[in-house]
Amino acid sequence: QPVETFDLVIFGGTGDLALRKLLPALYHRYADGQIPDDSRIIGIAREGLDDEGYRDNLRKVLVKDGNGSKVEAFLKLVGYRPLDARKDDGWDDFATMMDKDADRIRVFYLSTSPNLFVDICNRLGKYDLNKGKSRVVLEKPIGHDLASANQINDDVGRFFDESQTFRIDHYLGKETVQNLLALRFGNALFEPLWNAEHIDHVQITVAETLGVGQRAGYYDHAGALRDMVQNHILQLLCMLAMEPPSSLAPDAVRDEKLKVLRSLKPINEANAAQLTVRGQYRAGSAEGQAVPGYLDELQDHKSNTETFVAVKAEIANWRWAGVPFYLRTGKRLPERVSEITVVFKAVPHSIFDASAGPLAQNRLVLRLQPDEDIKLWLTIKHPGPGGLRLRHVPLDMSFAEAFGAAQPDAYERLLLDVVRGNPTLFMRRDEVEAAWRWADPILAAWADSGEAPRPYTSGTWGPSAAVALIERDGRTWNEDSE
Ligand code: BG6
Repeated sequence: QPVETFDLVIFGGTGDLALRKLLPALYHRYADGQIPDDSRIIGIAREGLDDEGYRDNLRKVLVKDGNGSKVEAFLKLVGYRPLDARKDDGWDDFATMMDKDADRIRVFYLSTSPNLFVDICNRLGKYDLNKGKSRVVLEKPIGHDLASANQINDDVGRFFDESQTFRIDHYLGKETVQNLLALRFGNALFEPLWNAEHIDHVQITVAETLGVGQRAGYYDHAGALRDMVQNHILQLLCMLAMEPPSSLAPDAVRDEKLKVLRSLKPINEANAAQLTVRGQYRAGSAEGQAVPGYLDELQDHKSNTETFVAVKAEIANWRWAGVPFYLRTGKRLPERVSEITVVFKAVPHSIFDASAGPLAQNRLVLRLQPDEDIKLWLTIKHPGPGGLRLRHVPLDMSFAEAFGAAQPDAYERLLLDVVRGNPTLFMRRDEVEAAWRWADPILAAWADSGEAPRPYTSGTWGPSAAVALIERDGRTWNEDSE
């Protein structure tokens, strides 16, 4: 179904996110016939480009996986305006072009440094462009702690209502994440077991092979906890752990996620050393190539920023009391893989002889990337004569095999949800705040301890302390092998 005609303005239009993710996502939706031809997509940045120059840059990106004539048709929707949020030049023209009286959907995507959000919103407010069917999209990070997140939300909130504000967390647009909803609430099989009585523990791993590369300037002020855990990983945890919402109405879902965030057990100076591990990569290898360490990339040998973090989290409520949620994420790990593993409790009593082999626990593994799939590991009898020998094998549902074509990128879905005005998959203000309330004391405990992150060689699974974090409890990180 095509969406209603819209204008979408990307502040930070020449940035990496815009060119690598947002504009290609819009192109794909256009090529699929979902974007009307009279829509407009406008890139904004300080660089002195014109429409043609901008289209040329974009053409180079799109022709790689696009169809020539469709790319050209899409580029007709695209324009560019050089604007500086802190200077008046060009704003009157821009406002005229946007036509505040037109009854169109207007989306302002703020893909800039957060310290420009207030200036941009001020301008939009001055020209009345925040009224009517206008929406604002905030890209993470929303602040670097609770206080700065509140400041951003207050600043933006002076011009845009909460109902107009879409805080994007692109992990919520990933296919498998939404599949969690279908799996949990569309099957009678799992929900009765989805609690502390039957689940031993949960693991969430988001591993990347990339280093920080060109983003060191941003990353060194963030670190893995702020960059990945406070948002993406906690959002995955919420989708997995929340109570069944009564419907998919935006607030029904977000109310339940909020309760999870508010139930997270505090981690602070009293227990951070036992429940968290921080690491920083050193030189090593990535995908067969020698790569430099974080400090060399940064060209600063003093940084205490973590590029890896592992956390043993707990949700203090009736459903999850006592069930550990082991979370880990890092740069320069051996493979790019994001997955959620739910490990069920062992059977209460084994009727099998020792010769049958060990009885493994059932595991449900939801893989987000690189390939989306869902595996349910079961114990069965090894086929054939030769006695009863047990094997642990997966019921395997690969999305590519089951549904063929590659699934749309997360941004494709989320951008159209903004146009449609559906905020279910976006973070409400109180969710962002609750996530910071949990993260802030961890960051404070690390800062107070004065300890440097533990070094790990690029191409390994982080510091050995991260293995110890889970093995201390008699468990292991999922390796998804038989
Ligand atoms: C971003 C982080 O939000 O997510 C990056 O800032 C990270 O550091 C990226 O690389 C990972 O996204 P994806 O979709 O590639 O897993």
